[in-house]
Amino acid sequence: MTETTIPENRSSETETGLVGQPIARVDGSLKVTGHATYAYEHAVNGAAYGYILGAAIAKGRIVEIDSSEAEKMPGVLHIMTHRNAPAQPEFGPAVTPTVPEVFTRARPMLNSDRVRFYDEPIALVVAETFETARAAAGLIRVRYEEERGAFDLSARIADAYTPRRTNAGFETDNEIGDFGGAFAAAPVKVDATYRTPYEHHNPMEPHATLAVWSGDEVTIYTSAQTLANFQAGLASTLGIPRERVRIVSPFIGGGFGSKLIVHADGVLAALAARVLRRPVKVALTRQQMFANAGYRAEMVQQVRLGADRDGRLTSIGHDVWSATSGFEEFCEQTAVFTRSLYAAPNRLTRHRLVPVDLNRGEWMRSPGEAPGMLAFECAMDELAERLGLDPIELRIRNEPTEDPERGVPFSSRNLVACMREGARRFGWERRKPTPGSIREGRKLIGYGMAAAIRPNYIGAGTARVAIDATGRVTARLDMTDIGTGTYTILTQIAAESFRVPTAAVKVELGDSRFPRTAGSGGSWGAASAGSALHHACNALKERIMEAARSSDRSPLRGANDVAPIFVGGEIRVGGRSVGLADFIGRIAPDGMEAIGTVAAARDTESYRAYSQHSYGAHFAEVTVDSDTGEIRTRRMLSVIGAGRILNPKTARSQILGGMTWGIGAALMEETVLDPRYGHFVNHDLAEYHVPVNGDVADMEVVFLEEYDDKANPLGAKGLGELGVCGAGAAIANAVYNATGVRVREFPITLDKVLPGLPVTAI
Ligand code: MOS
Repeated sequence: MTETTIPENRSSETETGLVGQPIARVDGSLKVTGHATYAYEHAVNGAAYGYILGAAIAKGRIVEIDSSEAEKMPGVLHIMTHRNAPAQPEFGPAVTPTVPEVFTRARPMLNSDRVRFYDEPIALVVAETFETARAAAGLIRVRYEEERGAFDLSARIADAYTPRRTNAGFETDNEIGDFGGAFAAAPVKVDATYRTPYEHHNPMEPHATLAVWSGDEVTIYTSAQTLANFQAGLASTLGIPRERVRIVSPFIGGGFGSKLIVHADGVLAALAARVLRRPVKVALTRQQMFANAGYRAEMVQQVRLGADRDGRLTSIGHDVWSATSGFEEFCEQTAVFTRSLYAAPNRLTRHRLVPVDLNRGEWMRSPGEAPGMLAFECAMDELAERLGLDPIELRIRNEPTEDPERGVPFSSRNLVACMREGARRFGWERRKPTPGSIREGRKLIGYGMAAAIRPNYIGAGTARVAIDATGRVTARLDMTDIGTGTYTILTQIAAESFRVPTAAVKVELGDSRFPRTAGSGGSWGAASAGSALHHACNALKERIMEAARSSDRSPLRGANDVAPIFVGGEIRVGGRSVGLADFIGRIAPDGMEAIGTVAAARDTESYRAYSQHSYGAHFAEVTVDSDTGEIRTRRMLSVIGAGRILNPKTARSQILGGMTWGIGAALMEETVLDPRYGHFVNHDLAEYHVPVNGDVADMEVVFLEEYDDKANPLGAKGLGELGVCGAGAAIANAVYNATGVRVREFPITLDKVLPGLPVTAI
């Protein structure tokens, strides 16, 4: 059950427009009828099938690899190992001082007898069918020289080192004032340590690639969030110019950050297809995704909050220790949001890494905030209790008037409004501050809340838009729709711009031959691609208007005193009007086109002058069975302030997804790393638990009316990842409110709650 409040758009331009309307996905019917073609489904003649064999040790060397039996199997075409794989450049630098390197560096495969992590690809079997390839892989005999690996984060905290930067290029450490002195002197304080486990994103569509060579150019049908990154990374690995790599990814079955860079399927399909001179398909199995498609690292977080007796924070400290791959660093920006969230004069945030023998960690939905807010917003709840303050009141008392570390104003910030509106709608006044106070039979009832913050960003990009002699508008850009609704909102933007129905607009995405964008990631997709398209439409309208005023063939020629306008599929100048299609047919029978570009936020004055974030407040009601400790999420509400909402229907789906991730992070998700062998034990969806429909009860999303004129020409701010930020903490706080048991080691499973539950009188 859900309810969505659709905001009234403010500006007059949008009142009559399509942007802001909850229109259904324009690609919805293609998807539900099976006509949307995903990576592995692209049909080409003569495609062969690859199957990846992964290492059975986590660290060491391959001494012998015997594929003779496998080669004899009928239908086997090729077996590629480190002995015969094409030469590739060396892996790039292990650290990433600048952000682009991580996307564009060579990622060679099968280039050494070294094994760096469990299930690292050691062979690719290519055969006429997938089944043959898989069966043949089972006949390959491998002898290893195994070395002892390092896997235990907690035992190795003393070995932690300071990386140069966190992900996304943030400072590793930031200190303002005197945190140590202020915290020591604070009359009320919390010093709590939280643990979050390894987690794996599991998009419905596993990573898959079909590689087709034509001469010295390759076309890669794959499942990618950012085409330019895939193109650059694969070109580096193949040692060819990027112009010779075409990436095609029109439909993507989810990404969550796991499809931002090229993985084994892409590299191995391209290598094998070149060797065999025929198309090759390679997909990761679900189990293989756990070692070969990134993860969120295990972390230990210490949060220290010092306050005066009125609940004003004097000191905020957030220290993070995270596991990282020993051969490729990834430092999630877990404490970076803390720098902007609450006021306090003395502040300290630090990130440290502990190397382990795992594959690289990667971006996983809301890198930073997802684990960081899970810990930090629980610490705020702990402080509120110590102060005897309502958790919302504590946050309101520490609401900053400007960004507390950068000292610049906020572009827009409605966190307090989100919390107040949420409290009113959720019935927050029914919450009892004393844990365990509300009971319904065997069930203990608890209420919890948490704040949400997520940076707003724009990635540089270009869009091309064309109009033909029938009045049809076509937009092309290498943007992707990973399930978020990109096709739909871009259709809305173009249709509104030309005042034509959505049916007159075609948006084409997912081909690296189209103008380059920042793709889908970091919640920047809608604002970045949308702004580029908005500018492209304006540029094209300008060209049309110019033609309307000046072309010999224009029926509107000479009506110079009034600016032309687009309305209802017509162009009007003063009292004269002409149908848009008719007009283009007359003045430009071959159609007209224009491009629009948007600069990266970091290159803009607005980004330097304003602190730009989206905000929200999450509310949760849980029940905990007082006999069994079973935790159920009964209700959730999220109130969101994220600028103008381009499409409340697709936006709501994003937030619902994030809230569901919150349930997972709080109560279920954990990949268990076997410290003896270095493999993830529960590497499938039977044993890696995520919330299913039965776990997601009554969820409501409310968008506050907001328009951020500092963010971009659309007035929108990113919201894709906002839904998960803090959502898990709201549930954890509700579990505490229900039971009085504070679990600081996630996920909160019943075995951790049960020992602390009040004993029921029999
Ligand atoms: Mo997102 S984790 O930046 O795709």
